[in-house]
Amino acid sequence: MSTSSTLSFTVTERTDRASEADRAAVLANPGFGQRFTDHMVLATWRKGEGWGDARVTAYGPLQLEPSAAVLHYAQEIFEGMKAYRHADGSVWTFRPEANAARFARSAHRLALPAMEEADFLGSLRALVETDIDWVPDATTGESSLYLRPFMFASEAFLGVRPANEVTYCLIASPAGSYFASGLKPVSLWISEHYSRAGVGGTGAAKCGGNYAASLAAQIEAAEHGCDQSVFLDSLEQKYIEELGGMNVFLVYRDGRLVTPELSGSILEGVTRSSILELAKDLDLEPEERRISLEEWRAGAESGEITEAFACGTAAVVTPVGRLVWNGGEVRTGPQGEGGEVATKIREALLDIQTGRTEDTRGWLTRLA
Ligand code: COI
Repeated sequence: MSTSSTLSFTVTERTDRASEADRAAVLANPGFGQRFTDHMVLATWRKGEGWGDARVTAYGPLQLEPSAAVLHYAQEIFEGMKAYRHADGSVWTFRPEANAARFARSAHRLALPAMEEADFLGSLRALVETDIDWVPDATTGESSLYLRPFMFASEAFLGVRPANEVTYCLIASPAGSYFASGLKPVSLWISEHYSRAGVGGTGAAKCGGNYAASLAAQIEAAEHGCDQSVFLDSLEQKYIEELGGMNVFLVYRDGRLVTPELSGSILEGVTRSSILELAKDLDLEPEERRISLEEWRAGAESGEITEAFACGTAAVVTPVGRLVWNGGEVRTGPQGEGGEVATKIREALLDIQTGRTEDTRGWLTRLA
């Protein structure tokens, strides 16, 4: 097993790839996270040996012992990224160093092994080169190939300690809009019973457990006719944190663009930090600070807050239309379509990602 810091990925191509017609049908209407490409990447880490056995192989079921630690203690992390096909056919991804760095931070928090940035990027290149025909044309709209790198405790052992064997896997899935309703503003339910993460917990890490913890609130949201839950801080249940799978921004009438500051229990979204940087180009004044739920309610009612939107790799920028709580609701932005600022930010981001505008910040990395 290789212990070098740069892994080489051997490629074993399957002979039964999806037919061109099947692939074209999927790419015509990809939805989100439903169909996967022909291949996946796997690599194994063993204590004392490091990473090795890195390969591109046919996408398919993994063999895991029922005693694999991840199934019991959720020692798992993941990332979400996208690959975009530009007009000249080349394929690019957006700020992968930021995802690699967050993957390393998440690994540290979940006591998983670090993966070198070069290996993380190498895995993206190896899979995208092999399955390049699955990358949708991104020159119009927001279609992309969603990349999902993840790492989990695959050791068959029931003691509670960091696993001595860990599996890295990368899968890919053609993606259109994350919400089935497309760009229609979503409604948010204020979860007063459930917290997603607490002080000193894993909220800033991208680990499956955080998403599992958000699901009961998601059910509550659906029971109240809402699309997503908004989580408040776990100490006072007073300040807005995030939506579980997305960060949130509020737009003020005077041009301020405000998002909750990183509290240690909020995920530091790559889209979030990119929007904070882009804001200045768009004549907006970015602010990271605590935002109380009361400020949002009152500002939406008075008209001081003109728009709200959610953002993330999967969701890009999705307008928020209503904020709903037990006993009331407020409109928090235009209802029929996204507000002007959300639309402007969304377009600015997508224009860079899809190569429709010049990448002046060096945010794009070529994959194939
Ligand atoms: C992403 O935006 O990539 C996410 O990870 C959010 C969600 C689909 C889990």
